[in-house]
Amino acid sequence: MESIDLSSLEVIAEQIKAGKCCKPSDDVKNPVPGEGNPKAEIMFIGEAPGLNEDLQGKPFVGNSGKFLTEMLGSVGLIREDVFITNIVKCRPPENRDPFPEEIEACKPFLEGQIALIRPLLIVCLGRHSMNYFLPGFKISEVHGRLKHSANRYILPLYHPAAALHNGSLRQTLLDDFAKIPSALNKIKEINKNS
Ligand code: URA
Repeated sequence: MESIDLSSLEVIAEQIKAGKCCKPSDDVKNPVPGEGNPKAEIMFIGEAPGLNEDLQGKPFVGNSGKFLTEMLGSVGLIREDVFITNIVKCRPPENRDPFPEEIEACKPFLEGQIALIRPLLIVCLGRHSMNYFLPGFKISEVHGRLKHSANRYILPLYHPAAALHNGSLRQTLLDDFAKIPSALNKIKEINKNS
């Protein structure tokens, strides 16, 4: 296997952009490494780039991205405060679910990003991202509940795209999102006392 350089976020992004990750199809225009504050306390991790993300090479810039930006505002955050990425870095054809081998191929890059940023809290957007961090759980049962797993604090949320088209899920996601500041405070409190 080709070696991967995980020495900095920039180096990781360059390798992703050069197509060293999952490469699900020849139609991929721009792999999407992710972007944001390299010292973010919170990382938001979605599923995979969609059409707009593939065109722009940036995460969450389509409709679900607009909704995510709005929700960040509702808890007093802007995109530049946090780091936003996906478990899979290239758009799967027709926006299909990522294959396990694509998730596996992107894993070193994602893990490298997490290791460098060292976020206090990882917010998973959608069940694929949740499955990566909390295998065996059901999003309908654990959404909005802070979990501790493999030495990480994980808050699983519904995916903004799912919530955009479903009124009750939208309110659930807004309510869950509103828990982010208290989850972060709780983690800081735990870290202080340990
Ligand atoms: N959906 C995702 O999961 N990620 C993106 O970047 C855009 C839409």
